[in-house]
Amino acid sequence: MVEQILGFAGMQSGRTTYEFRPVDVQQVIDKALAACEPEIRASGCKVETDVPPDLPMVAADATSLVHCLRNLVDNAVTHGAEGGWVAVRARPVGAGKQEQVEIRVEDGGPGIDPQDASRLFDPFYRGQRSVRDQVRGFGLGLTLARRIAEAHSGILGVGPAPGGGAAFFLRLPAIPAAAESADEAGTVDEQDDGETDSARRG
Ligand SMILES: Nc1ncnc2c1ncn2[C@@H]1O[C@H](COP(=O)(O)OP(=O)(O)O)[C@@H](O)[C@H]1O
Ligand SMILES: [Mg+2]
Repeated sequence: MVEQILGFAGMQSGRTTYEFRPVDVQQVIDKALAACEPEIRASGCKVETDVPPDLPMVAADATSLVHCLRNLVDNAVTHGAEGGWVAVRARPVGAGKQEQVEIRVEDGGPGIDPQDASRLFDPFYRGQRSVRDQVRGFGLGLTLARRIAEAHSGILGVGPAPGGGAAFFLRLPAIPAAAESADEAGTVDEQDDGETDSARRG
């Protein structure tokens, strides 16, 4: 809770800083699921992941991206637990310079109540069901998750999952394969130049 409030306060004041680096999406998903392990276990939900091995990397602040995903997984196992399953999937969407990586968090729960849909991402907004059933939380998870997505030039949206549960999707610009291999080449060059560089410096 403290982490969420501090995160929100930092974003409101513009003090949040992001360090963008090439990030492996599988690793981000693994870390988010590991961090949610107690909530997942308490929910009794079965968690399935589906991430292709050749997925492009994304330019991201890994800590923030893990935080974003944690909020979505936490919501799936608290608000959508009654279906008994949660799935985290990733796939490339679009092509060329417009290519993105989509990460979806789906659940088998009741889905988004149409009465809540327009305010879901508002700060401190909680669904009517969550308030009525006294589900834990205080309405900042989706606000933070969306702001993190936007800080990455991405989007966070929601739609129905197969079976009627909620499906949150996060789309982030992919690092083009050409840039990745150029980067690798760059790394090799640097290593080749290493001795000369240190000799120059020395
Ligand atoms: N997976 C989900 N299934 C159904 N409703 C959801 C789901 N995720 C979020 N919601 C709804 O969106 C509201 C806002 O979510 P969030 O900002 O994380 O706040 P909190 O989880 O603290 O209530 C929730 O109160 C709930 O009504
Ligand atoms: Mg939440």
